[in-house]
Amino acid sequence: KQQVKIGMLGLGTVGSGVVQVFRENGEELEKRTGLPIHIKSIVVRDLEKERLVDVPTELLTTDAQAVVNDPDIDIIVEVMGGIEGTKDLLLTAFRNRKSVVTANKDLIAEHGDELTFAATENGCDFLYEASVGGGIPIIRPLRKDLAGNRINEVMGIVNGTTNFILTRMSQLGVSFEDALKEAQELGYAEANPASDVEGWDAGRKIAIVASLAFNSRVNFPDVDVEGITSITSTDIEHAKQLGYAIKLIGSAQEKDTGKISAQVFPALVPLAHPLASVNGAYNAIFVRGNAIGEAMFLGLGAGQLPTASAVVGDIVEAVRNFHAGTRGKFLVDCYAKKEVQSALE
Ligand code: NDP
Ligand code: HSE
Repeated sequence: KQQVKIGMLGLGTVGSGVVQVFRENGEELEKRTGLPIHIKSIVVRDLEKERLVDVPTELLTTDAQAVVNDPDIDIIVEVMGGIEGTKDLLLTAFRNRKSVVTANKDLIAEHGDELTFAATENGCDFLYEASVGGGIPIIRPLRKDLAGNRINEVMGIVNGTTNFILTRMSQLGVSFEDALKEAQELGYAEANPASDVEGWDAGRKIAIVASLAFNSRVNFPDVDVEGITSITSTDIEHAKQLGYAIKLIGSAQEKDTGKISAQVFPALVPLAHPLASVNGAYNAIFVRGNAIGEAMFLGLGAGQLPTASAVVGDIVEAVRNFHAGTRGKFLVDCYAKKEVQSALE
């Protein structure tokens, strides 16, 4: 095959970022993968809607089934969100031997195992770097680069919207509601922002990274979650006077019993701690392993281009594997293993 064709599901914040990155870096991507990559179809809900990027109207369709069943398409890029209907579309894509790249943490946290089995069974790649930490590489390091470690703890700021809100409230005295509105306008928030502010999004991300870090199945409902809705400007001011910043922290650690405990909660972070100065939509994730010691991953955790950076990185991996005939050969994470059981306390 002389080129790779992509079918995209979604052209919102992240999808339009992906199109923009292809537009700006297309030549570079072709050099890196050895194959030209073309976006053949893009699924949206509303064909008339004004888009963040200009795309030829003939690329747009509302028929997701036609795209995941199109024999001409090699890779599906899922950036539309949703759980059950989206899972079914991706299972169809795998049955049709298409690799899948997704940014959908809700879907991975809920059905990562079923989807990874399906990918492995059909010899396809299933890549989801953008699902945690936006543009920060963290999934691939946990799957590959840190695989030589026994990991004891993962911990950090994994939701851009709440970190943006807490930063705005702390630095500019903006109200919670106004800061949330701003985060939505900037494309950081989920379609249902309760997912961000109630801590569910962070909880799902912690379930994903903990599963990979501990080679176990950590399920979102078992993560102890508290969001930031009860944090007031007065709390933030008092914390500051006492030498602390309030941050929504997600963490998971392996206990002496071998069980894992995972939680998300607003924490008092000493101002001298590196996490206290992680502001705005930035995320930071610490990983503690018995060989590397402590490693910190820092970068923009939400937004159009940072998230697209991770999605396109996954597309590059999928295209390289496609080119080399090694699709689906390297899915070795816990989600692909049937014997892995839930390991939470
Ligand atoms: P948006 O709401 O901006 O975009 C969603 C896109 O998907 C829209 O183009 C929408 O079409 C389309 N869509 C949604 N549902 C359907 C459906 N049932 N059928 C057809 N098309 C549909 O979302 P984001 O781009 O912000 O997020 C996309 C995914 O990426 C989500 O899973 C999110 O959690 C994840 N993510 C988002 C990040 C961010 O910073 N925003 C960061 C990391 C991950 P239309 O435009 O016509 O309405
Ligand atoms: N709503 C998410 C956040 C997007 O704010 O972190 C990135 O996953």
